[in-house]
Amino acid sequence: MQILDGKLLSQNIKKELHYEVENLKSAGKRPPHLAAILVGNDGASETYVNHKVKMCKEVGFESTLVRLDDNISEDFLLEQVSRLNTDDDVDGFIVQLPLPAHINERKVTLAIDPKKDVDGFHPVNMGRMMLGMSAYLPATPYGIVQMLKAYEVPTQGMHCTVVGRSNIVGKPMAVLMSRNHQFGNCTVTLAHSRTQCLKDHLLQSDIVIAAVGRPEMITADMIKEGAVVIDVGITRVDDASKKRGYRLAGDVKYKEVAEKCSFITPVPGGVGPMTVISLMKNTLKANQNLVYTS
Ligand code: GUN
Repeated sequence: MQILDGKLLSQNIKKELHYEVENLKSAGKRPPHLAAILVGNDGASETYVNHKVKMCKEVGFESTLVRLDDNISEDFLLEQVSRLNTDDDVDGFIVQLPLPAHINERKVTLAIDPKKDVDGFHPVNMGRMMLGMSAYLPATPYGIVQMLKAYEVPTQGMHCTVVGRSNIVGKPMAVLMSRNHQFGNCTVTLAHSRTQCLKDHLLQSDIVIAAVGRPEMITADMIKEGAVVIDVGITRVDDASKKRGYRLAGDVKYKEVAEKCSFITPVPGGVGPMTVISLMKNTLKANQNLVYTS
């Protein structure tokens, strides 16, 4: 069994990005600039955004964090989006989700200029990805593809089951694994909360990508011998034995599943670090105008 070490891999990519930024600066160009809008004080969102800002610093990017109160109006948020759309100093930006209930997330996503949508959530980027055109890929699926590539995980002709149909992870992941590509060409099953006999599907799968957010729901008896298991889940589970009172759990019961796998991602240190670094890669692409060339 080989561990797919997202922490190590992301550190290597970080060095590459840092090197590219130095090259840009030596050529007299400004570094890539990512902006993030954070509305309210949700603890998890704050942690994620702080990771993104910190990573910008580490790779040498500029970053701007726009913090807004959770009682701002939808119109005010749309004005901020519009301002960033036309700010030539900002290459790409994200609006951290979820947004407060009184703000329509879809409306906000649609207001982002697809050319600056480094999250890849706008329907134009989703559509371009679906058609195999150059697009900003959503960071988590993009990070997983890079991990498969770096570890030369065989995917051609394999049966891949993606568990979870979120717009951010499950759906785009299923598209990427089925595309005609060296790290795709899978036969894909997209399983979700209404799927019957999940275990039967999983036992036929060479690759399992779990993105549900239900701690340790995938157990060893559900996994085929030699399968590749990618765990996107990361949930805080109460644990009195820990100083901070909780531990982080993936969707996969790691210890017992690892014994059956050819490759597996740990939680933490697997998919998480790859997600943040992939957002940086998208921001560099935005700075270089590499996506909307055709
Ligand atoms: N909320 C959870 N994941 C993400 C992400 O990748 N981007 C944004 N904007 N919000 C999120």
